[in-house]
Amino acid sequence: MSMQSQAMDRKMNVRSIQKMKGVEPITMITAYDALFGGIFDGEVEMILVGDSLNMSFFAEPDTLSATMEQMLYHTKAVCKGAKRSLVVFDMPFGSYTHPQQALENAVRVYRETCAEAVKIEGGKEKAEIVRLLSENGIAVFAHIGLMPQSVRAEGGYRVQGRSEEERRKLMEDAKALEEAGAFALLLEGMVSELAEEITRSVSIPTIGIGAGNGTDGQVLVWSDMFGFFEAFKPKFVKRYLDGAELLRKGLRQYREEVKSRAFPDEEHSY
Ligand code: KIV
Repeated sequence: MSMQSQAMDRKMNVRSIQKMKGVEPITMITAYDALFGGIFDGEVEMILVGDSLNMSFFAEPDTLSATMEQMLYHTKAVCKGAKRSLVVFDMPFGSYTHPQQALENAVRVYRETCAEAVKIEGGKEKAEIVRLLSENGIAVFAHIGLMPQSVRAEGGYRVQGRSEEERRKLMEDAKALEEAGAFALLLEGMVSELAEEITRSVSIPTIGIGAGNGTDGQVLVWSDMFGFFEAFKPKFVKRYLDGAELLRKGLRQYREEVKSRAFPDEEHSY
């Protein structure tokens, strides 16, 4: 059996993730509940309880209205299923606007869930927060590039790193966040060459989404990659399943069998 098709037999932690840099690409997927947390557990190194749930599961137009309470609730659920993959908690918009508030909220994450790292969006302006959390024993996964929590302030989603100025800023951000103690970097929606250059320039792992093939690993939103979220499909999403269609097919068969009284049959009756 190839390495790719085997489930992991060990529990991942921030150190084992860091050791994978330059050795083996790191896989990550989102999950929002115990059922899928359990299915994905051990198949990928990391599971992100992303605030993307606000869009894919609550049908909101962006991630901004997700709250700490919602994220804690979903992370607790994922933790019931995820025993081997490292769980990352996505700090929602407004929960880390100043250092003390960020620390208090991140402490709650460690106290109330099994998450081993918190993800925060922002460049070097967030370095002080990353440092404070790291110095207080909280692992931070820093998220730069296209930052969905800035969608309203930026007036939309835009691929980053097309100009020299942007490339310079993102490189500075990456280095400042590493220096502040981030355990890993998420690089979203940026030109591939820049993501590759950042990956070469930092000693912590980089996980990309819409950032090409030169990062240390990849993350995708599960409902996008398995074709359950049908509202739109960004260019960087590869659909590995036609999930919504598969479900509808099963549902239609169920409906027909109920209507024709083919279900329940002897086998499914007492
Ligand atoms: O919330 C989320 O799912 C994310 C993705 C961009 C990885 O942050």
